[in-house]
Amino acid sequence: MRLVTSRRFDVVFCDLYLTPISGMELLAATLQQSPDTLVVMMTGNPSVSSSLDAIRAGAWDYLPKPFNASHLQVLMGRAAHTVQLARDSHRSPVQSGASSESGVLGTSPSFRRALELAQRVAATDASVMITGESGTGKEVIANFIHRHSRRVNRPFVPVNCAALPEPLLESELFGHRKGAFTGADRDKPGLLETANGGTFFLDELGEAPLSIQAKLLRVLQDGIVRRVGSEQADATVDVRFISATNRDPHEAMARGVLREDLFYRLGVVPIRLPSLRERAEDIPVLARHFFRAYWARHRGATTRLPAFSDELLDALQRRTWRGNVRELQNVMEFLAVLAEPGATLSAYDVPPEDGRPVAAPAVEPAQSELWLMDFRTAKDALIANFEREYVQRLVARSGANMSRAARLAKMDRTTLYRLMEKHGMSRSDLTDDGEAA
Ligand SMILES: Nc1ncnc2c1ncn2[C@@H]1O[C@H](COP(=O)(O)OP(=O)(O)OP(=O)(O)O)[C@@H](O)[C@H]1O
Ligand SMILES: [Mg+2]
Repeated sequence: MRLVTSRRFDVVFCDLYLTPISGMELLAATLQQSPDTLVVMMTGNPSVSSSLDAIRAGAWDYLPKPFNASHLQVLMGRAAHTVQLARDSHRSPVQSGASSESGVLGTSPSFRRALELAQRVAATDASVMITGESGTGKEVIANFIHRHSRRVNRPFVPVNCAALPEPLLESELFGHRKGAFTGADRDKPGLLETANGGTFFLDELGEAPLSIQAKLLRVLQDGIVRRVGSEQADATVDVRFISATNRDPHEAMARGVLREDLFYRLGVVPIRLPSLRERAEDIPVLARHFFRAYWARHRGATTRLPAFSDELLDALQRRTWRGNVRELQNVMEFLAVLAEPGATLSAYDVPPEDGRPVAAPAVEPAQSELWLMDFRTAKDALIANFEREYVQRLVARSGANMSRAARLAKMDRTTLYRLMEKHGMSRSDLTDDGEAA
């Protein structure tokens, strides 16, 4: 305690269970004296929760006991490398992170919690496992962690474990020796070597074949990479692992498709991303952001940006969003491509979800007195109801522009005027191609 409070160390190895003061107290004191010090907690009882507590409290990594000299050497090497990188880049390890400037959007409590955890773990080298439904932003968060880490000036290397058949994936990851298989006409380093010093992102980890999982585990344990067809250690790499899966890892372990030891190594800090349904309050901000971006891309910066009606925002917040943020992006791109400049977008402009209409039908005859009227009167009332609703929405959709409204409805303008008058709307409510109302 006297040493760590009186001097600055680059790297500290510290036992978790100590008396009379605990390793956690020593960790706190070290970081208070010098926040950049890399503290490695050594523990004979590497339960997930104690190592997670240590990481949350600011430890850089942990080392399970018993360990051998080469484990220590590899970890020390990684630590030294990290210290060197931090010096080279003169960056503070964590930037005070307003999330908007980093392009990661969302302020709902459930999303903020995930983002805060990502930010805290970014300063460490701990492995992170991100879970969440498809399209919730797992890769976005992995990238966020990399950009906020000391490794920012080194590569971020994503590998999709589901995209390649096993032999190809193996040689992509680990590289191969000349002659290892037909077509291997020269030595080739794998992506793990490419990622050296940086962050390795194992996407769709749940899809990785078991043989590859076993080889990955060896790299995680000692940092040593053996290329396919090689008898020896070809490289020692220093990478931070982030993995992602849209399946439940516990269920995958129960089914025997995910190795438990790999899970515990890769999942020191688990981050679960909420689905878009669980953070519906973020939908308006995300929708507006994507819509503006796509509008600028497809329609130019000078055309009048359409507005969102309340009912549109309502419908967006009620939607199921099975495809999460990615689906929201697609819907906004669709709207940006098709909307009229200056229009007010309604719920009807949104493409239906799985073929079902998003908004409720305009008229709900089941609830009305229509059924008690004579046939003609009922039919006229129903149609009048529909016409009024249609014209109101049409006017909004067209940005109150007469020619545009007629074009959208494929009606001639005289018929449209008559319809408007019938329902108490006046011509002067609309402009006609830029003329004042
Ligand atoms: N919080 C966010 N802010 C801004 N954009 C986001 C956010 N989350 C996701 N996106 C965008 O949504 C899309 C999907 O995100 P991403 O690819 O990270 O999802 P994923 O969880 O990896 O999906 P999958 O499981 O299908 O691979 C991307 O285009 C990304 O830019
Ligand atoms: Mg992904």
